[in-house]
Amino acid sequence: MSNLVRFSISLEETLLQKFDQRLKEQNYENRSEAIRDLIRENIVEKEWVQNETVAGTITLVYDHHKRGLVQKLTVLQHSFHHMIISTQHIHLDHDNCLEVIIVHGEAHSLIRLTDKLKSIKGIKYGHLAMATSGKELI
Ligand code: NI
Repeated sequence: MSNLVRFSISLEETLLQKFDQRLKEQNYENRSEAIRDLIRENIVEKEWVQNETVAGTITLVYDHHKRGLVQKLTVLQHSFHHMIISTQHIHLDHDNCLEVIIVHGEAHSLIRLTDKLKSIKGIKYGHLAMATSGKELI
């Protein structure tokens, strides 16, 4: 385990009040934990910008009756099979499907895959949740 270091921060009083209000709303017990999370988010953001190896989930919602859609989805996922860890498909109702694709690989390739999936005609919703391989985080 790494050593804990204490440091002080100078900032405007009103900014600190707003920060403390947000901590309360988000149920943080103290400022340290909230600042740790902000730093972690910043590191994860850097991983994606710098095209490092990351993990994430792509969520899609679509109507499986749309002509050609399911086949296009399958062909595309096979093209990116080396990045796809797992896919879960749920039949939401008679028409709508929800698919969650767990991905791992170079950040920019995962963004490209998401864009290609989202642009398939008939996809109602597509979202990439950017996570991390966790290697750079403590
Ligand atoms: Ni379905």
